[in-house]
Amino acid sequence: MTPGRSMMKALVLNGSPRMDGTSASIAKDLGARLAGQGHVVTTFDLGCLRIGGCRECFSCRRDMNDECATRDDLSEILELARSTDLLVVSTPVFYGDVSAQLKCFIDRTWSYFGRTGVSADHLPRGRTLVFILSYGYNDPVMYDGIFEKYSRYFRMFGFDDCHLIKACGAQYKSPEITNRSDVAERIGQILEMTASVR
Ligand SMILES: Cc1cc2nc3c(=O)[nH]c(=O)nc-3n(C[C@H](O)[C@H](O)[C@H](O)COP(=O)(O)O)c2cc1C
Repeated sequence: MTPGRSMMKALVLNGSPRMDGTSASIAKDLGARLAGQGHVVTTFDLGCLRIGGCRECFSCRRDMNDECATRDDLSEILELARSTDLLVVSTPVFYGDVSAQLKCFIDRTWSYFGRTGVSADHLPRGRTLVFILSYGYNDPVMYDGIFEKYSRYFRMFGFDDCHLIKACGAQYKSPEITNRSDVAERIGQILEMTASVR
């Protein structure tokens, strides 16, 4: 997190189709507590929006800009993600990967490369990503590879500082998940970092 900044813009994306499930609960708890620290928090439930994936139209490359030509509810989110200081993405594991809703957002960030065709170095650096994964198997490391895979791409967009919160063994509705010691501890660690930003 960049020192010398007291207030951050935080964008929170719940990628679960369930508005009251595990991913949403953790994302909303973290978002509320970030707001309590004085940060400006904007939250979206991707499952409630009209969104689609990348159409591979290559308009962004042809026009040499970083704006996705597809206009839908992701347009505003892509605009906010371009400059947010802190990005929180929260997703259930579906068949060993992120949800389709979150994947739509991730694939559409391809447009950021359109400015030069090869890099997204024009985006601000030194930003923070919090990646929240919830899944059914009760194995705490089983899906760490999902975080590793996607954080590599988010780093290209300036999210140099990437953190993972995991909720394993969360098959069914888990509204109490944020009280579970392993999850609560990780949320606490993230909040310590965001509180220490000055
Ligand atoms: C389509 C589908 C695919 C799933 N695939 C997996 C999987 O590959 N591994 C796993 O551990 N859990 C899997 N699950 C279980 C979910 O990851 C788990 O219930 C998760 O905690 C739901 O999060 P939510 O409450 O935020 O929606 C799957 C569930 C669904 C509906």
